Amino acid sequence: MDLKSKIILVTGGGSGIGLELTRQLATLGNTVIICGRDACKLAEAARVTGAQAIAGDVTSADDQDRILSGIQEQHGRLDLLINNAGIFLPYDFATDPDALHKIESEIAINATAPLTLTRRALPLLNMSVQPGVLFIGSGGAFVALPGTPVYSGTKALIHHCAQTLRHQLKPHGITVFEALPPVVDTDMTSVLKSDNFKKMKPADLVRNILEGLRRDRTEMLVGQSRQIKLLSRIAPAFLFQQFAKTEFH
Ligand SMILES: NC(=O)c1ccc[n+]([C@@H]2O[C@H](COP(=O)([O-])OP(=O)(O)OC[C@H]3O[C@@H](n4cnc5c(N)ncnc54)[C@H](OP(=O)(O)O)[C@@H]3O)[C@@H](O)[C@H]2O)c1
Repeated sequence: MDLKSKIILVTGGGSGIGLELTRQLATLGNTVIICGRDACKLAEAARVTGAQAIAGDVTSADDQDRILSGIQEQHGRLDLLINNAGIFLPYDFATDPDALHKIESEIAINATAPLTLTRRALPLLNMSVQPGVLFIGSGGAFVALPGTPVYSGTKALIHHCAQTLRHQLKPHGITVFEALPPVVDTDMTSVLKSDNFKKMKPADLVRNILEGLRRDRTEMLVGQSRQIKLLSRIAPAFLFQQFAKTEFH
């Protein structure tokens, strides 16, 4: 996929991996639109990257429609939808008083929203000559992370859906990409005790993803995610035990 003069929507573009994607894509001369719930954080990200900010929650159907209508009115098409917004919630399923809310939000943000937003974006993607959808998945798709009862399940769902949508959207000319990062140094992973994992820098991850897009690598296993996938096939119990040692702040 060519990465110049594209109209690109990055969900969760106000921080972390989304902000770095926005920064590097804008530097290449693309028009980047970012969304997120925190309007102040989003405005600051837009200021430093030159992106256009549309505040909104990806789990809200109204907000999805409003974000896409804004792009339709201003640009008339969408070349690349990057489903990046996500949350990571370590908690105890049995004892956390807020568990019911956490279960629903994590599934809504990480699993349901990328799919419903993609479905709603199809008419705009169809206006592009080279449309694409990129899901930011996770190496966690290949291993159940014992401290986070739901997170890895949402990423496993996205991993499967990326494959089914790649197949179903191909006749429509839409290429479906998935990037599966390892642990990356962002706000999301500040809950992990730092000596447990070597965290990849967002800039390095994003360089890797953009190179994958340019080379049309539809499934991008980055860094340690390769080993995680391999171990999940040959030594799944060992892998699970390693992740069970993860400590959280
Ligand atoms: N960091 C890692 O180690 C790692 C590894 C593998 C995969 N990933 C995946 O990479 C993606 C980005 O993670 P990150 O590390 O960059 O996390 P982050 O720094 O916490 O950023 C997540 C972004 O998503 C936005 N967001 C969350 N809920 C949203 C909602 N309902 N509507 C709109 N925006 C929402 C947040 O903004 P608001 O709060 O303002 O809405 C925030 O800007 C996630 O999908 C994550 O699962 C991360």
